Amino acid sequence: MNFTQQHSQQFDVVIIGSGGAGLTLALSLPPHYKVAVLAKSHLNDASTYYAQGGVAAVLDQTDSIEQHIDDTMIAGGHLCHLDAVKFTVEGGQDAVDFLLKQGVQFTLDEHENLHLTREGGHSQRRIIHAADATGKAISTTLVERAQEKENIHLFENVVAIDVITTQKAQIEHSENRAIGVYALDETTGEVKTFLAPFTALACGGAMKAYLYTSNPDIATGDGIAMAWRAGCRIANMEFNQFHPTCLYHPKARSFLITEAMRGEGAYLRLPDGERFMLRFDERAELAPRDVVARAIDYEMKRLGLRHVWLDITHQPESFVKEHFPTLYTRLLELGIDITKDMIPVVPAAHYTCGGVIVDQHSETDIAGLYAIGETSSTGLHGANRMASNSLLECFVYGMSAAKHIQSQIDNAPRFDQVNPWDASQVEHPDEDVVILQNWDELRTSMWNYVGIVRTTKRLERALHRIEMLKREIEEYYQGYKVSKNLIELRNLVLVSEMIVRCAMQRKESRGLHYTLDYPELSNEIRDTILTPPDFLVSQPLVDN
Ligand code: FAD
Ligand code: SIN
Repeated sequence: MNFTQQHSQQFDVVIIGSGGAGLTLALSLPPHYKVAVLAKSHLNDASTYYAQGGVAAVLDQTDSIEQHIDDTMIAGGHLCHLDAVKFTVEGGQDAVDFLLKQGVQFTLDEHENLHLTREGGHSQRRIIHAADATGKAISTTLVERAQEKENIHLFENVVAIDVITTQKAQIEHSENRAIGVYALDETTGEVKTFLAPFTALACGGAMKAYLYTSNPDIATGDGIAMAWRAGCRIANMEFNQFHPTCLYHPKARSFLITEAMRGEGAYLRLPDGERFMLRFDERAELAPRDVVARAIDYEMKRLGLRHVWLDITHQPESFVKEHFPTLYTRLLELGIDITKDMIPVVPAAHYTCGGVIVDQHSETDIAGLYAIGETSSTGLHGANRMASNSLLECFVYGMSAAKHIQSQIDNAPRFDQVNPWDASQVEHPDEDVVILQNWDELRTSMWNYVGIVRTTKRLERALHRIEMLKREIEEYYQGYKVSKNLIELRNLVLVSEMIVRCAMQRKESRGLHYTLDYPELSNEIRDTILTPPDFLVSQPLVDN
């Protein structure tokens, strides 16, 4: 065995991901901990940066923790775990304090208080925001703070491949424990070893599994796939949120039109001008996302439309420009003056509600391994995430993971003898077209067969194709040198399989999972849980 250490580096905590979740953990750890933060692209290239609407938190006298909890439970189809919902909602004030302390500049009202906007599912105005570019304000501020800290080592263009566990590294230890990651340094082409007693997966979601998505390219489910291969259980992957209003425009890919626009009065209209949401739900445009996306999908299919219209032209021009400056400017560049013109919109895959099962400390099934943010399944979102609860979850659970790591670090075992990545049996790839072809096929199958409205037949078709793709991709992975594209594709096909397998298990329609074969709600409220290594499915009762 070759125990050469030339590619290995030691830290106290290794965090995969520089979005809201990863950086909250990094910045909440004591300044004498040596922390590594890995990002597979540049530091701001994360869903966090692209968030528009804001962060939900109970801050107004007229609002209450109970109302936020109730709204979350209703939006989540009552599949949310009440303890996780309480924990997150009660953590709202601390999360906001953390962000203000880091220096995030949120929009203020005329009394210099945080301005609160409204989004679907919320019975109150409770969304703090930085105009319509909240994520940019949060992400750039957290990155700046992390860059200032000497103890935080930031690695860009470094792609984590797999979690190293004592079991996989064949190290004798009383329990199977995560001890770091192997990661591809894209600049040098080398695979490096990052070792630490604590590893956190804060890799974001997996909605690149779909052909049309609001997500940036990094959202390929790497964290969920790595956790699974390390031996963690994964829950509720059938619940993929489709955001109702992404721009339909040939020159703007993945461009979201924030729900806050509907929160501030925008209407959804058909080509004849009808405000069709009134026919579907009494909450109309502010019904939860699953309801609105399904209604749009229904109308588009019924009338053979390529898109519907979002209309805020009835609001005063100054109001629109003040609330949505980024959207106003960007859409004007595309020839749409939102103060005068309606916006063509379609639903697109937006958020991964399921993920790696964690407890309130963000710890997974494997000791020393944490999952935070969109990668995790805390129980908060149930069958449908309520708008702006996701960033809140990143901050609350990022801080909670930091506390737990602090309580454990003195007694945590450290390992420094790990085999380096073995690339002796692989060749340089000769046919990268295989990756491109499989990538397109996978995402098209997911869009066509595992979308907003499902059937058992479509799911079976999808699974059949995914199993074939998975075999081909695995063969390629075993034979050729790793590349970022290959790592992502391997993860995406695995996560797509999880989505389909979970969807096939759910014999009801709840929240984001709507199937024509089981259109009714079941009386039993159950999570779908996948257990490694063989996709064994169990469905214990949700403890509400
Ligand atoms: P991300 O912010 O996505 O960060 C993931 C990080 O992991 C990145 O740094 C990436 O490089 C890194 N990474 C991934 N895989 C690897 C790997 N293999 N190796 C190394 N690094 C890796 N939520 C709200 O609450 N409010 C909103 O207003 C809102 N608006 C949104 C708008 C858009 C357009 C989108 C896409 C999402 C929005 N969401 C919103 C959802 C929310 O932004 C995300 O759920 C949240 O930001 C996820 O944060 P995260 O830290 O978990 O992941
Ligand atoms: C949006 O601004 O519409 C996105 C909000 C979210 O995903 O929570």
